[in-house]
Amino acid sequence: MAIQWFPGHMAKARRQVTEKLKLIDVVIELIDARLPASSRNPMIDEIISHKPRLMLLNKADLADDKVTKEWIAYFEAQGHKVLAIDAQSGKGMKEIINACQELVKEKFDKMRAKGIKPRAVRALIVGIPNVGKSTLINKLAKKNIAQTGDRPGVTKAQQWIKVGKEIELLDTPGILWPKFEDELVGLRLATTGAIKDSIMNLQDITVYALRFLGERYPKRLEERYGITAITDDIVEAFDAIGKLRGCLMGGGDVDYDKVSDLVLRELRGGRLGRLTFERPIDLEVSTEGAPE
Ligand code: G4P
Repeated sequence: MAIQWFPGHMAKARRQVTEKLKLIDVVIELIDARLPASSRNPMIDEIISHKPRLMLLNKADLADDKVTKEWIAYFEAQGHKVLAIDAQSGKGMKEIINACQELVKEKFDKMRAKGIKPRAVRALIVGIPNVGKSTLINKLAKKNIAQTGDRPGVTKAQQWIKVGKEIELLDTPGILWPKFEDELVGLRLATTGAIKDSIMNLQDITVYALRFLGERYPKRLEERYGITAITDDIVEAFDAIGKLRGCLMGGGDVDYDKVSDLVLRELRGGRLGRLTFERPIDLEVSTEGAPE
């Protein structure tokens, strides 16, 4: 993640999104399907409270299908409209257009009843960095438009991008910060590559990733690295992978940085299969016993 989220930046990001909200009918909240809790902005409900919202679980191609279905049911139970998509391949684009129209139907019907001519539905895409906002804008627009979101010091006029006749998108998405003050959230975001490796220690991220795989997807670990169990001594797993894959230093000792680099590269590239790092049930567990 290129952006360092200092309090001033957070306030500015929020202000920018709030300004854009005045122009639009629907908010499209983009979430990483592998991290549907950690990849959301902690204040999102407050920031966009009064606007109809479509939640999109993006990168569904990389996520565990079964768990994606659990998340869809979870968000739907909260009253949200939610779809799983893959912005890179363009899977789910038609459904997005339909869902946006559905979300404003009542408002537009009222406008029509008052004799106001129907216009395109105006939408804004919001989400944390790297969640796929630019990819989605380009896919919906069917051309390369979104280079970046808002950059400090760069101002330009807002432009509308036509998505068929039905939708108009703001060309710059709203960038919001994740809940990274929680260490586990930071580790999860780092594991998927949503935040830059330089921000966190590579070996710490890999320790988290291996423990997670050992717990949730042990077969994948066994198939790829021949590891049958992750023990309390995580170094054993690093050693096993290092020896198997030749991640060694000059003297023949295992190079833990090389192991980390390999594991994270393979995990992010989908070589360990489709993974989802959190389930709705984790949220229930984590709030258990919390003060009311
Ligand atoms: P942002 O605007 O929200 O910051 O995100 P952006 O669109 O730049 O996407 C971040 C990365 O996620 C890009 O990869 C993009 O290709 C990838 N991506 C977006 N949507 C999907 C999806 O649905 N599935 C998969 N598998 N990947 C997706 P990158 O490695 O940063 O760039 P590049 O490899 O595309 O050049």
